[in-house]
Amino acid sequence: MAEELLLDTTLSKAEQYRQLLPQIEALTTGEPDLVANLANTVAALRQAFGFFWVGFYLVKEDALVLGPFQGPIACTRIRRGKGVCGASWDQAKTILVPDVEQFPGHIACSSDSKSEIVVPVLKDGQVVAVLDVDSDQLADFDADDQHALEHLMLTAARWF
Ligand code: SME
Repeated sequence: MAEELLLDTTLSKAEQYRQLLPQIEALTTGEPDLVANLANTVAALRQAFGFFWVGFYLVKEDALVLGPFQGPIACTRIRRGKGVCGASWDQAKTILVPDVEQFPGHIACSSDSKSEIVVPVLKDGQVVAVLDVDSDQLADFDADDQHALEHLMLTAARWF
């Protein structure tokens, strides 16, 4: 496919995800390189929704290590159970945080980040990475984001 995304911002968020996800699928199908696929995924998400920060952290031994991302520079290593990302790894589930200041142990890579969603990537029942999306608006993520991003992370699991 042409390296250009078709995005219709007049659609609802759920519809925009429905338009975007097959395009990410197409962009990554047949490409065996993990970093290339993760990089295009975060770029596509940021281009579509203008998120403040979107990126992957990859499980490497006893830590999550920063992977491809779009946005301001970020913390490079997060221990299991620490912050929202470490909690998502530990619990192997999505964590939605409407107000990061209310999340005990939240790791503030940027003081501009106000709400966050972290979705794990599961391969053979093990968390191999997490997708972290941050917004500079409070309560910016809901069940539509969770549903679509969990679906997208099923695709991402195939790249590992
Ligand atoms: N806020 C995250 C850390 C990663 S940055 O937001 C990019 C956390 O609490 O795990």
